[in-house]
Amino acid sequence: PLAAWRVGDAVFVTDDTCTHGQASLTEGGVLDGFQIECGLHLGAFDIRNGKVTSAPCTQPLRVYPVRLEADQVFADLGDD
Ligand code: FES
Repeated sequence: PLAAWRVGDAVFVTDDTCTHGQASLTEGGVLDGFQIECGLHLGAFDIRNGKVTSAPCTQPLRVYPVRLEADQVFADLGDD
């Protein structure tokens, strides 16, 4: 599952599943600026680059390149 986040005019697409466990970041997570805090154990990531910003998370969140065209968001999911 993927998550799409909008901060101002910017859109970011990341994996929706927290790398610490199997929690959905969109269901129970809290977005504060560019930081998404997981609702299960309160670990956090920067949605711009996937870097961990708070323990207990240690593995980064996957972030996908995004292109905006008109009102549509396209995410490059790569080959894998
Ligand atoms: Fe997200 Fe533990 S499952 S911080």
